[in-house]
Amino acid sequence: MTSRIRPAREGDETRVAEVWESAWRDGHLGHVPQQLLAHRTAETFLSRTVAMLGRTHVAEVDGVIVGFVTLKGDEVEQLFVDASARGTGVARDLLAHGASQLRAAGHATPWLAVVTGNARARHFYEREGWRDTGHLDYEAAVERGTVTVSCRRYELVVTD
Ligand SMILES: CC(C)(COP(=O)(O)OP(=O)(O)OC[C@H]1O[C@@H](n2cnc3c(N)ncnc32)[C@H](O)[C@@H]1OP(=O)(O)O)[C@@H](O)C(=O)NCCC(=O)NCCS
Repeated sequence: MTSRIRPAREGDETRVAEVWESAWRDGHLGHVPQQLLAHRTAETFLSRTVAMLGRTHVAEVDGVIVGFVTLKGDEVEQLFVDASARGTGVARDLLAHGASQLRAAGHATPWLAVVTGNARARHFYEREGWRDTGHLDYEAAVERGTVTVSCRRYELVVTD
């Protein structure tokens, strides 16, 4: 599947939020505290998408957004791909794009957090050369405060 990666722009937020909500459920249901689900509504996916649009790149196939990557400091904060584009290389391209942006910005060791029970994502990151460096209690942002989610911290192993 040939995709094009570009910076997100105004007007993308509805589709990005739609991809995010659906893919988030696929990767997280059953693996995060029940308490977090009440906060992860369509409205909050949309408002959070708007807030992070300037840090987001999207992948398009035939002009339709099928995935996105969001960067924050030295972190790949979000990586989500629509079910229709999984297993096609879109996720690999988005991850490589995000990592190269971080390294170009001077971050020698990009990292990310993945929910401990998200086996597909963990396998994917390991296949792409990321290393599991251990347990991390990730503070997932909600309206007022955070919810602690059991995660693994992965770092990119740079060989060049
Ligand atoms: C995680 C994600 C971005 C990866 O993209 P993808 O296109 O699905 O990744 P790929 O298909 O290239 O690779 C997935 C790998 O996991 C394997 N896999 C699939 N299901 C699996 C499972 N239940 N357990 C372990 N490995 C699994 C696949 O076989 C493949 O490995 P292989 O190439 O060695 O055969 C995508 O699945 C996604 O968006 N998932 C939902 C949201 C999510 O979890 N995001 C990550 C948040 S940190």
